[in-house]
Amino acid sequence: MNFNVFASQLLLWYPQNKRDLPWRNTQNPYIIWLSEIILQQTRVAQGLPYFEKFVSYYPSVQDLAKAPTEEIMRLWQGLGYYSRARNLHECAKQVVNEYRGQFPSDYKSLLKLKGVGQYTAAAIASFAFKEKVAVVDGNVFRVLSRYFGIETDISSSQGKKEFQELANKLIPKEHPDEYNQAIMEFGALQCTPKKPDCDNCPLLDGCFAAKHQMVSSLPVKEKK
Ligand code: ADE
Ligand code: SF4
Repeated sequence: MNFNVFASQLLLWYPQNKRDLPWRNTQNPYIIWLSEIILQQTRVAQGLPYFEKFVSYYPSVQDLAKAPTEEIMRLWQGLGYYSRARNLHECAKQVVNEYRGQFPSDYKSLLKLKGVGQYTAAAIASFAFKEKVAVVDGNVFRVLSRYFGIETDISSSQGKKEFQELANKLIPKEHPDEYNQAIMEFGALQCTPKKPDCDNCPLLDGCFAAKHQMVSSLPVKEKK
């Protein structure tokens, strides 16, 4: 398999193409957690102003924990999925009360936090603490399924497991955090859901889907 080519191409592509996003200029786990919760099911352009607003109202996890729930819900207005806002507050209180205001610093412990699933735990462990654990979101499913030609349904538990295992094998020892950002950004900007720009893609040579005219049929996701 083209494992090394894949990771090194992404690491070359990333610095030349990445967007300058505020949560990428920090290793503060609170700020990273906040950005990832806001960006779940939300586009970057929509989430950005909310991120800025929350950081300025609540610069620390202590500020967020002691805020009135109604104020948090009011600031969240317009973002939808309101359980995220409730979990946000619960998680902040949990970090303050059970972890002395310090986010846990590894993937397994992060999973114990309210509203923090595999993706968010991996993102915090990777971006804040440099742990070598792969983030797998919709972008990553798409890039991996196309490049490696994987037809397993991404909404099945078998699919989730298969992609997570592949992603963990691909993550390089050097710069695992940068690699995680790179593959997500690549899915967001280059290997997009509709009309990806395969002609100008640095991964074209090794890409299974491009070679076999399968780009528009991958990833496979059963309609629910
Ligand atoms: N969407 C979710 N997490 C993101 C991140 N860290 N950077 C850009 N977009 C994202
Ligand atoms: Fe995605 Fe096309 Fe590049 Fe393959 S060649 S990785 S499908 S953009």
